[in-house]
Amino acid sequence: MSAIDKLYGPVTIVTVNVEGKMNGITVAWATRVSWHPKIVAVSIGKTRYSRELLDKADKFAVCIMGKGGREVAEYFGTVSGRNVNKFEKISYELSKSGLPIPSGTIAYLECKKTNQVEAGDHIVYFGLVEEEKVLKNEPPLVFGEGQIL
Ligand SMILES: Cc1cc2nc3c(=O)[nH]c(=O)nc-3n(C[C@H](O)[C@H](O)[C@H](O)COP(=O)(O)O)c2cc1C
Repeated sequence: MSAIDKLYGPVTIVTVNVEGKMNGITVAWATRVSWHPKIVAVSIGKTRYSRELLDKADKFAVCIMGKGGREVAEYFGTVSGRNVNKFEKISYELSKSGLPIPSGTIAYLECKKTNQVEAGDHIVYFGLVEEEKVLKNEPPLVFGEGQIL
């Protein structure tokens, strides 16, 4: 185990709805980067299908998963939207701006994509938080050292 694996992150599902195509990707590399205004950053592998969608998207949602969302997070984190419509099997609601919010979400942020930066084998997308909602007041699942805790 390397030191960088000790950098635990929240288990989130980043969702988009681009030209009627909905998808979500499990992301542990998500963090706040500004308070005024509220800005978050999510790091997406260059080879992910979500990267193609996020490049086209003007907004995305960061859905923070609670203990009831473990299986959903595992599903969204192991299959690709390139081959499967992940939302076919999973129940969800639509946010104010039409972004899918999967079951198991305890809180979510609706973000306007502001810019993106290449970082090695990932792209970091920055989102200005336009709406936020807490659905359940409990702690998030966290990911570190190769597992969801
Ligand atoms: C707990 C967990 C955390 C993950 N964190 C990230 C992440 O931060 N960034 C990323 O690009 N992929 C991450 N992944 C992998 C993607 O979720 C996975 O490759 C997914 O199937 C890609 O979906 P897509 O092809 O529909 O975009 C994670 C997977 C799991 C299970």
